[in-house]
This record gives sequence, structure tokens and C-alpha cells, in this order.
Amino acid sequence: MKILVLNGPNLNMLGTREPAIYGSGTYDDLQQMIRTHAEKCGVEVLFYQSNHEGALLDAIQQAYFDGVDGIVFNPGAYTHTSVALLDALKTVGIPTVEVHISNVAKREDFRQISYVRAACVATVMGKGFAGYTEALDILAKGAGQ
Ligand code: DQA
Repeated sequence: MKILVLNGPNLNMLGTREPAIYGSGTYDDLQQMIRTHAEKCGVEVLFYQSNHEGALLDAIQQAYFDGVDGIVFNPGAYTHTSVALLDALKTVGIPTVEVHISNVAKREDFRQISYVRAACVATVMGKGFAGYTEALDILAKGAGQ
């Protein structure tokens, strides 16, 4: 099983970025944690992060051509703005779990809309970095198949 872990804008700045909300771990730490978990589960993981909406769209489309089985997706702020990312997920039909490090449900009003959610099999939020491994487990168990 091949899983793409896709991160949107500003998530490359984890560790530096608002540590009171997102924690002190870096993006490298996050990748390492997921890699270790994926190895235990016998799942192949690919990582991609971009600050650009179009690059995230390209990555979702490429995942289709690369035979990716599932996407763990933290779209960052594009969660709350991007119909194009929703459409891309619908286009490829790859089971996707939406992840947020923080509990967006308890944050500002503008974070209460998630466009991508309509194309996701599950949402994990407010669990810090552990939300990514939980998302991977959901996909590994075959949600959405
Ligand atoms: C986030 C929450 C979003 O509202 C925010 O714009 C982010 C990170 C999270 O992981 O908690 O960039 O997706």
C-alpha cells in the first residue's frame, strides 16, 4: 500500500510557526515519526509539501497516475478557501483523510469551513502530530475502499 502525506502552506515551518498551537516539532520530525509508523505497518509513504495551491493540485493528480492508494492531507489554510483542491480530490477518487494538527473546530469562525472535507473519508483534528499516524491507520484499514 502506497500513501501520500501531503502538506499545504506553512507546514514546512513547523517548530517555528506558532509553537503554542502547532507544537515544537519540525516538519522533519513529523516526517520521521510518520516514516517509523509506516514501516511498522508495512506501508510505503511518500511526502510532499508546498506553499502553492497549484502545486498541491498537481501532486493530487500525480498521485492518481502513480497509483497512490490513499492520501493523508493537511491542506493548511487552503482547507478553508479551496474549491479547486476539493475538485481535485473528487477527480482522482483516492481515499483521503483530512488532518489538522490543531483543533480547528475550537478556533476562529473562518476556520469552520472545510471545502476538502466533502471529498474525505474522515477528518482527524486536534491531536497534534499523532493525527497523521491515526489518519494513516484509517487508510491502512481500508476506509473508503
Ligand atoms: C491547520 C489549521 C489551519 O486552519 C491552518 O491554516 C493551518 C494548519 C492545522 O494543521 O491545524 O495552516 O491545518
